[in-house]
Amino acid sequence: MAIKRKIKSAYFCQNCGYQSPKWLGKCPQCNEWNTFVEEIINNNDRLFNGFKSSKSISPILVSEINYDKEKRIITNDTELNRVLGGGIVPGSLVLIGGDPGIGKSTLLLQLALKLETKNILYVSGEESEKQIKMRADRINQNSKNCFILTETHTNNIFKQVEILNPEIIIIDSIQTLYTSQIESSPGSVSQVRSSTSELLKYAKETDTAIFLISHINKDGALAGPKILEHMVDTVLQFEGDRNHIYRILRTTKNRFGSASELGVYEMNNNGLREVNNPSEILISERDEEASGVAIASTLEGARPLLIEVQSLVSSAVYGTPQRSATGFDNRRLNMLLAILEKRCGFNLGAKDVFLNITGGIKIDDTAIDLAILCSILSSNLDIALDKQLCFAGEIGLSGEIRAVNRINQRIIEAQKLGYEKIIVSKYNKIVEDNFKIKIIKHGKIEQVLKFLF
Ligand code: TYD
Ligand code: MG
Repeated sequence: MAIKRKIKSAYFCQNCGYQSPKWLGKCPQCNEWNTFVEEIINNNDRLFNGFKSSKSISPILVSEINYDKEKRIITNDTELNRVLGGGIVPGSLVLIGGDPGIGKSTLLLQLALKLETKNILYVSGEESEKQIKMRADRINQNSKNCFILTETHTNNIFKQVEILNPEIIIIDSIQTLYTSQIESSPGSVSQVRSSTSELLKYAKETDTAIFLISHINKDGALAGPKILEHMVDTVLQFEGDRNHIYRILRTTKNRFGSASELGVYEMNNNGLREVNNPSEILISERDEEASGVAIASTLEGARPLLIEVQSLVSSAVYGTPQRSATGFDNRRLNMLLAILEKRCGFNLGAKDVFLNITGGIKIDDTAIDLAILCSILSSNLDIALDKQLCFAGEIGLSGEIRAVNRINQRIIEAQKLGYEKIIVSKYNKIVEDNFKIKIIKHGKIEQVLKFLF
């Protein structure tokens, strides 16, 4: 008589990973509709021969726990070192997400090939060995310590890992892995979650650093359950405009350093090149003065950046004027335009306003408000701003220029790039003698306009 094995299944929200015994139309956790998919769970531990923990479980005194402070692995990539908070921490799990084709595989293969002193295993479930070799040839690096494994079953991966004993493991991508613990297809929430937890256990117990490449969903969030982000130590986001060559690596979570770091790369024909001075590339080369252009000194994370803001103001063709911003929040643009109308008497209600932050990057820093207003007015009046001038100030609703944080860092960056004048808020406390650059202080947007135009 055949033994009938009871198949257990549950429904999982594909957005956040919420588990329910029956199908639901709306997820009670993340409020998304139609996200529940049935997945088969096989809790049969006999079948599982992946990584098994060998650690004894007993409490230990904090004072008795030892660790090496200086054990971080410093890579050849200074940008990556920076976003990780000063190098790779052994035993850490790093999740890196980004749009398809943005360069995630390239970034990590490059890391693996350049770090020749460490034993590195690159596990790919997306590409063949030949494809990876072709990419390695393109990057033009060859390492004797970088191993490639094209495998997606976690049991087989752990078998090879135990033989090779690598110091760093790269998984490309977490959505392709599957474990026999769970019978649902690779990429499903429960598969991603349990593969990650196996890797997590392995990383912590053997002090191996593991990088996980992850797909992102159509909203730009990391695909898979939200708890994935809770499980890992560091979450990095690789972003950029695919039509531009610049890529930005951003930290969104980091248990070992600041969560607001930023690295900049340039995608070339032979791999990614680190950009150590991003301000230079974010400002376009120009000989003539153009109206509608203003330079803002902003901070991305802890890093000062000089960026170029471009505006175009033209008469509206349709009844409702268009307001469109690239790289900046549209609602904040509307607010700034309302301030211009109310406080400075400009009638922009019948004008289309287009705003663009060059270089394809997104700025959240409110300290670029002043540069945005000045660029809009410069375009509106068709008067170019002084090429040697830059801005750092936030605008309040009453038209006042508010102080911004870390003003000294912003001024130093402007000075470093050879700007001669910077307009800041008069409420910022600055010791002017410390700087060569001329610091112009204003308290109201009206005063700045009178000064400029
Ligand atoms: P890839 O790393 O495959 O992206 P992801 O893993 O995030 O999907 O990057 C692929 C893109 O990068 C592809 O459009 C080709 C481009 N590329 C270069 O421009 N130069 C290079 O040296 C390499 C390796 C890739
Ligand atoms: Mg890839």
